Amino acid sequence: MTNNIYKTTSENIEKAASTIKAGGLVAMPTETVYGLGANAFDNKAVASIFAAKNRPAFNPLISHIYDIKQAEDFAIIDDRALSLAEKFWPGALTLVLNRKENFPYMDMVCAGLNTVTIRIPDNKTALELIKKSGVAIAAPSANTSGTISPTSAIDVYECLGDKVDMILDGGKCKIGLESTIIDLTTKDAVMLRPGGIAIETIEEFLGEEIKFSKGNPDLPKSPGQLLSHYAPNKSLRINVTEPNQDEIFIGFGDMKCDYNLSKKADFLEAASNLFSMLKLADKDDRKIKIAIAPIPNKDLGLAINNRLERASYPR
Ligand code: TXA
Ligand code: MG
Repeated sequence: MTNNIYKTTSENIEKAASTIKAGGLVAMPTETVYGLGANAFDNKAVASIFAAKNRPAFNPLISHIYDIKQAEDFAIIDDRALSLAEKFWPGALTLVLNRKENFPYMDMVCAGLNTVTIRIPDNKTALELIKKSGVAIAAPSANTSGTISPTSAIDVYECLGDKVDMILDGGKCKIGLESTIIDLTTKDAVMLRPGGIAIETIEEFLGEEIKFSKGNPDLPKSPGQLLSHYAPNKSLRINVTEPNQDEIFIGFGDMKCDYNLSKKADFLEAASNLFSMLKLADKDDRKIKIAIAPIPNKDLGLAINNRLERASYPR
């Protein structure tokens, strides 16, 4: 039964906005591909995107906004970013920008990085949904990791079924291919993914050549390729059952510890607490090191361990 597919009436978009605000998942049409959306400012809601997609690691996600002003709270928008945004948005261009440090709600969607990735989609339904939700909407493609991206509501349904609360049926996607991602956090702009807007068009507008990073370790932008990623300042030991005296202990499940990712041993809760608790432990000046309890290597635990392995990688 495809009874979670909804026509794009304003009533249904209103209902979808309430779902987003309540921490639920809404698949929304965009001009590129359908996105699996959740409140970008809600760590737990963002963690549920990874669970639904069966994504092995917490990649940073694109936050979708409806106008540039909305991003001023959390992104540093310099002149180059502003001119690209004014030229190509709404549209299939995604910009990686530096994050504003004083905006604390996006650790999960940014995968603990100090960059934030945004775009304004060129789709009426998506824009109305974002506006009505009153938040930025985090959305990767609405498919299971590793499968073909969805370009219709039924594609989404076939892949995710009722793992998603609502699928807004905006018909076929105009572009059907993901957005072009440009990293603007370095002096020279770098393309991280070719996509819906041709690189030549962007180069011509900027008047500069744009390098293409395919995940070269010398251009460490794709967190998935880094051995050491989101490492705290303190050394971190993982799979620890007996912490040493000089270690802040982060627990999982019902145990004695300084911080607990999830007393109930709930993966979703643990995932959404992960980055913030690592930060707390790093700042906690009672002890000089951090240890963390074993997390079962299944479900979202796989993604948590994948992150922890990198955070603990010897530097
Ligand atoms: O067209 C699109 O971009 C679609 C629609 C729904 O907007 N979204 C999409 O999202 O394709 P996703 O998550 O499937 O792909 C985003 C890519 C990921 O490979 C992620 O690693 C990369 O962008 N990415 C996001 N933020 C990044 C960052 N701060 N630094 C480096 N890579 C980043
Ligand atoms: Mg994808």
